[in-house]
Amino acid sequence: MKHTGLLCLVLILLSATLTGQQNDPFRGISDEKVLPMLKHLPYRHGGMNVPAEDGRLLYDIILENGYQRGLEIGTSNGYSALWLGLAFKETGGRLITLEIEPQRAREAQENFEHAELDDIIESRINDALKEIPVLEGKFDFVFIDAWKPDYDKYLELILPKMKPGGVITAHNVTSQGSSVRDFLEEIQNNPKLTTTINRSSRAGVSISYVK
Ligand SMILES: C[S@@+](CC[C@H](N)C(=O)[O-])C[C@H]1O[C@@H](n2cnc3c(N)ncnc32)[C@H](O)[C@@H]1O
Repeated sequence: MKHTGLLCLVLILLSATLTGQQNDPFRGISDEKVLPMLKHLPYRHGGMNVPAEDGRLLYDIILENGYQRGLEIGTSNGYSALWLGLAFKETGGRLITLEIEPQRAREAQENFEHAELDDIIESRINDALKEIPVLEGKFDFVFIDAWKPDYDKYLELILPKMKPGGVITAHNVTSQGSSVRDFLEEIQNNPKLTTTINRSSRAGVSISYVK
């Protein structure tokens, strides 16, 4: 009886450890430069950055699909771009990230250099509404995380520049649902898109694959 109790306890502890490992957003990431930044950078920036779980979600989407050309709208200090850049480093792809505030873009650039991802990530300082129309070529991955009421405008500009099979993702679609209502309606009703909403973080991430 005593042994059975002990065995149960060991099994419970083992199961809790395995579940913890599966949920660890940093599992399997060994890059010595980027890993400490992924673990510690957001805490210096009062809530603007995606949580690590959402960074990992986007990282996995890029790797699973072998995406090669990414666009991020809303860089801030570059935390989410570090997740995306690390994924593109593994697929052999590249990322352009857009930020309207020069000081934030400069800080992001310093972070990309420190992470040794500055050859993968190109930082551009401009209003996304002006920069997207002049971007050349097609994209297979987009992450929208800038001014929420303009999500529908970013979408309209980026749709003609998407490759079939590509994906448009967007942050805060649950936590700021009322600000992105038009965007949500469009991604759920546009016949060219197949959309799911990932609610594993409080923010909510929309994932719209392009047919
Ligand atoms: C939530 S933060 C981005 C956080 C970042 N994606 C991360 O997780 O690390 C939103 C950023 O979008 C920028 N932004 C807002 N409107 C923009 C626009 N029209 N074009 C480019 N950047 C914009 C803001 O200055 C801000 O730094």
